[in-house]
Amino acid sequence: MSTTDDPLSWAREYTPVLQSLGDEYDDEEPLAGYTIGLATHMEAVSGCLVETLARAGAEVLFTASEPQSTHGDVVQYLDDQPGITAFVREGMSDAEFDEAQHELLEREPDFLLDDGCELIAKVHDEHPEIAKQILGGGEQTTAGITRAEAMERDGVLEFPVYSVNDTPMKHFFDNVHGTGESALVNVSITTNTVITGQTVVVAGYGYCGRGIARKARGLGAQTVVTEVEPRKALQAHMDGHRVLSMPEAAEIGDIFITSTGTRDVIRREHFEAMQDGAQLANAGHFDVEIDLDGLAEYAESVSEPREGITRYTTPDGRHLNLLADGRLVNLTGPASDGHPAEIIDTTHAMMFVAADDLLTRDHDLGPGLYAIPDRLDRQMAERKLETLDIDTDAVTEKQVAYAEDWRNEGSAF
Ligand code: NAI
Repeated sequence: MSTTDDPLSWAREYTPVLQSLGDEYDDEEPLAGYTIGLATHMEAVSGCLVETLARAGAEVLFTASEPQSTHGDVVQYLDDQPGITAFVREGMSDAEFDEAQHELLEREPDFLLDDGCELIAKVHDEHPEIAKQILGGGEQTTAGITRAEAMERDGVLEFPVYSVNDTPMKHFFDNVHGTGESALVNVSITTNTVITGQTVVVAGYGYCGRGIARKARGLGAQTVVTEVEPRKALQAHMDGHRVLSMPEAAEIGDIFITSTGTRDVIRREHFEAMQDGAQLANAGHFDVEIDLDGLAEYAESVSEPREGITRYTTPDGRHLNLLADGRLVNLTGPASDGHPAEIIDTTHAMMFVAADDLLTRDHDLGPGLYAIPDRLDRQMAERKLETLDIDTDAVTEKQVAYAEDWRNEGSAF
């Protein structure tokens, strides 16, 4: 039995939407003449996005959005292809990661596709002359949108940015199902322990948290949700999860998974209340949701009982086990491969559409953050359904007339 030298071959089979875009665009090459800078978690499925952009004619410069999630074989393979240049390698330090992003920006791309608003923030902050020449951007994550909104509020954005994260085709599937499933799978693999029967505390009941909590319950866990937003807390309660404050949850949780997009959600007063053996994982953003400095200060000693697990022994002898250094557990754990390919396929297809629409359509969008037109989201849903061979019903003429008939003249009642 032999394995292939092409690290994208498996991912291509599970990214039918990107492949169909590549098949449709590679004759005409509508993105020819444009240079697209991309920052994302660099693994095989992201590699399929890079490849699809190149098939559509773009010159692609890519880097990482997180220093620890890069797959070196994918980077090497792509860098060897014409029209594609890597500004990343596996095992980069934080300083090298930062430097690589600057190097990419100094090549003066026309468009930025971003994850966490890394490139978009950096080009405005540190390369303002280059920012002025950029034609547009697309951002795929919740945390990146928060950052882009802050830039818009400060009036500093120099070009239109599409909020890919806010499209239903992204957050209904990527955040709920992609993060939901891959975070739990990676907690289980990293620790070699079961989810069933455990008390799983999910911090944040947004799209990601909802997916994590629902799937944890599906696996047999008792689920607890913590929130700061009253309607989300109520929703979690009505969905059947136990809603507690973090001080209460800290006392009973076996596994903690954060997905809030903010910092210090689990901190010293919570570590002090936790049970021996508690597992701490983050599926939100970067490594700030669990207060790592607070944990290190509180602990009496630190060890590594298993790859991907840092054990903090507390002054009273309890063990608190931090997974994947508090970084995204589904992307940076020892066996992590990111989201399942079929899920990220649609997210990346929406990134492709963002670039295609802003670069090739005659639009009049000035600098600012914009929703992707709903028709494009809908078209992508139709494309995905086609790949699944799923038919939907068509609205009849009578149904259209009925919906438009506000006087109810044609209705029977
Ligand atoms: P969201 O905005 O839908 O949900 C976040 C929730 O956290 C909100 O309901 C908010 O009220 C709650 N929250 C905020 N502060 C809190 C606190 N201190 N304690 C408890 N709850 C709090 O966002 P979404 O889409 O669920 O994303 C969450 C995070 O996950 C973001 O940082 C996003 O970038 C990241 N993300 C991670 C992915 C991954 O692969 N691991 C994939 C997609 C998003």
